[in-house]
Amino acid sequence: MRAVVDLVAQLAEAEARYVAANPESRRLHEERARFMPGGNTRTTIHQPPFPLTIVRGEGARVTDADGHEYVDFLGEYTAGLYGHSHPVILDAIRSALADGFVLGAPNRYEAVLAQAICTRFPSIELVRFCNSGTEANLLALSLSRAVTGRAGMLVFAGAYHGGILLFAHGISPLNPPFNWVIGEYNNTADAARLVEEHAHELAAVIVEPLQGAAGVIPADPAFLRTLRDATTAHGVLLVFDEVMTARLSHGGMQELLGIEPDLTTLAKFVGGGLSFGAFGGRTELMRRFDPSQPDALQHGGTFNNDVLTMAAGAAGLTQVLTEAEVSRLNDLGDRLRDRLNAFSTERELTFCATGYGSLVGLHFTLGPVRNEGDVPESAELRALLHLHMLERGFSYGRRGFIALSLPLGEADVDGFAAAVEEFLLTAGVPESCFDVGHVGVGGFSSWR
Ligand SMILES: Cc1ncc(COP(=O)(O)O)c(C=O)c1O
Repeated sequence: MRAVVDLVAQLAEAEARYVAANPESRRLHEERARFMPGGNTRTTIHQPPFPLTIVRGEGARVTDADGHEYVDFLGEYTAGLYGHSHPVILDAIRSALADGFVLGAPNRYEAVLAQAICTRFPSIELVRFCNSGTEANLLALSLSRAVTGRAGMLVFAGAYHGGILLFAHGISPLNPPFNWVIGEYNNTADAARLVEEHAHELAAVIVEPLQGAAGVIPADPAFLRTLRDATTAHGVLLVFDEVMTARLSHGGMQELLGIEPDLTTLAKFVGGGLSFGAFGGRTELMRRFDPSQPDALQHGGTFNNDVLTMAAGAAGLTQVLTEAEVSRLNDLGDRLRDRLNAFSTERELTFCATGYGSLVGLHFTLGPVRNEGDVPESAELRALLHLHMLERGFSYGRRGFIALSLPLGEADVDGFAAAVEEFLLTAGVPESCFDVGHVGVGGFSSWR
């Protein structure tokens, strides 16, 4: 086994090379830190000693402030599905821009986007827009509370439902004060029991059909089916957070599994890459927002129908993201995951790739990875691999998060896989690599 001191020394060396190679990113970080806590306004993208400042993106390539180019395997944590500067999206934004924005009224793009969403997701009969996935989830949960008169919410450990809805290793003190009940992801038997036991106080169960931030961990179909059956049986609403997973088939994970939730939340790429969120479901639930009804729930939001977002989102769903493109991208993800898993299995390396289709997670464990408890911290190895990949011109999320984007091709994926394999061989990741535990050199964020 590689000694702890080797790992620490290697990481120190790699970080020193990173610092030397990125003086402008460092300067910009220090400038930001004068007016923003830690130079940051989005914890997800913080990274010690400082993150790269990205100044340009085109296709599947991004360029940092020091002029280095990277093949982008982060895909803006799934919001960048269309890649950078997709011509159809750009045209849609430019032509909307030409007619003016902040118009203070309904515009001609929102119906196109709403129809595209409702057509793709039959469980969404009516939809409303907002500005982020966080907001979409807050609204879905608040609607659930309003219609059931109950304030309990069953969520699953490791879930990330937004900046103030996070359940990684506990409940964030920033979460809103619903009565949270925390279950174990993919624990089918326990999920049924929890719904039954708490049915009297539960408004909703909210679940990611694949936990993204927790480590790109797909749900067991039986787990989700059990949740569907148990919530139906007990009059509790089932909310699918498809903010990340909507991209995995034409109609999201719910279509793949043939499970209809009561409410679905969307965000990220569905807005074409601009700030966006949406929530929708059965007419009987969503009609509560119809402002012409005397008992209507009010839901304002200056930018809910932002002209540029509506135009970009509509163009993306109606002109770019065809079923063929979805499946091509999923095939690319399978190619990457299968190759890395075959490589590490053949060599008995403590490493595996998780996920489904175009979403891939990298972990220093043999697997299987079924919930956050199976994800080893391995902060130093994660950081080392990440710095190794940056040096070879590939960017992705340091915690092992990969979201493929449409401009990527097989050569890009093969190049990425070869660079990971080089790390696994040269860094000699041994069977018990993560036995080293946390040696205190990182402080790397393990959630997003
Ligand atoms: C599953 C899931 N839900 C909700 C969100 C929150 O979306 P947003 O960042 O748009 O608020 C995220 C963001 O990563 C997510 O992954």
